[in-house]
Amino acid sequence: MDQSFKDFESRKKDHIRLALDSSSQQLSKSGFGQIKLIHQALPEINFTDVSLKVQLLGHDFSSPHFISSMTAGHEDSLEINLRLARAAQKKNWLMGVGSQRRELTDDRAAAEWKKIKLEFPDLKLVSNIGIAELIQQPLDKILLLIENLGSIGIFVHLNPLQEVFQNKKEAIFAQGFKAIEILVKKSSVPVLVKEVGFGINRETTERLLLMGVKVVDVTGNGGTHWGQIEAARNHDNAVVEDAITAFHDWGQSTIDCLLDLQEQVLFHQIWASGGIRNGVDSAKCLALGARAVGVAQPLMKAAVNSEAEVIKTMELFDFQLKTAMFCMGIRKYEDFLHKKVWHVSNK
Ligand SMILES: Cc1cc2nc3c(=O)[nH]c(=O)nc-3n(C[C@H](O)[C@H](O)[C@H](O)COP(=O)(O)O)c2cc1C
Repeated sequence: MDQSFKDFESRKKDHIRLALDSSSQQLSKSGFGQIKLIHQALPEINFTDVSLKVQLLGHDFSSPHFISSMTAGHEDSLEINLRLARAAQKKNWLMGVGSQRRELTDDRAAAEWKKIKLEFPDLKLVSNIGIAELIQQPLDKILLLIENLGSIGIFVHLNPLQEVFQNKKEAIFAQGFKAIEILVKKSSVPVLVKEVGFGINRETTERLLLMGVKVVDVTGNGGTHWGQIEAARNHDNAVVEDAITAFHDWGQSTIDCLLDLQEQVLFHQIWASGGIRNGVDSAKCLALGARAVGVAQPLMKAAVNSEAEVIKTMELFDFQLKTAMFCMGIRKYEDFLHKKVWHVSNK
């Protein structure tokens, strides 16, 4: 095993361990508390009238919830990904895979996904690559990631804060818009852009949509803090450890991003993730115009245990969302776009 492979393996294992530790979670900073959903004592619909069915990227799904991109391509991840994939196929949720970066240099990583695709032919997956790789790697290699996975879209993740705290003082982000624009032109599937938990602001969202990006997933703060996780991995570097304390509430929350995009949500696919910890959080995102809601850390927490836990977590999120919709008199998620069912709390 060469050194870079060993480093990769230990980084991915650390990521899972640290993401499950409460110190990496910023829930007190999440903006969900500022939004109140309006309860309808007489909703004038039956619980069974409420449907969570949605169309995303041209495909039908049973829920607007999706599995946010999480770790892939290392030795222990196969079992975790199999559990997530099995559960996603059973529940008919969309699944984002973790970064396919390792496939760019190691064929074994692609074999893992081929195995999963063979076992779950109906599963709908979205590819994932970091902006730094998109900028630096030949486009043909990136397009091959989509083909290998048979994915229905590709997420490009933006993660400047995480990259710096991974101790990459050479974090490469210049020419990022250009690289995304070229990918949009050449990709056979829609391009989606996400953050990893610090938000995407309105100016960037508008620019991305204008160049043909199909979905902007705002991925705000309030959940897993990827600067904190990388700094914890680099604890022998005193500068990094001292520096991270100033970034504890860095970025925009998922709710603040959505509040800022109220003109865009009517006409564009704005998705939400980052700090979603129950189906009422999801209902708040949908009420604010998001068309889909991504869950990461709670599903990883379940997946390290068993497939049954993953399914239980998915069912809980769906049940909470359905109950919230019923109590607001909302039959289907499109109705959120035509009816204002929220207000900002003044408490
Ligand atoms: C264990 C783990 C691994 C992750 N790996 C990736 C990744 O490879 N690519 C990516 O775009 N995001 C990755 N993420 C970030 C998530 O997709 C998500 O944007 C972020 O964790 C915020 O959501 P949360 O608060 O629900 O965890 C990962 C998250 C977790 C918990």
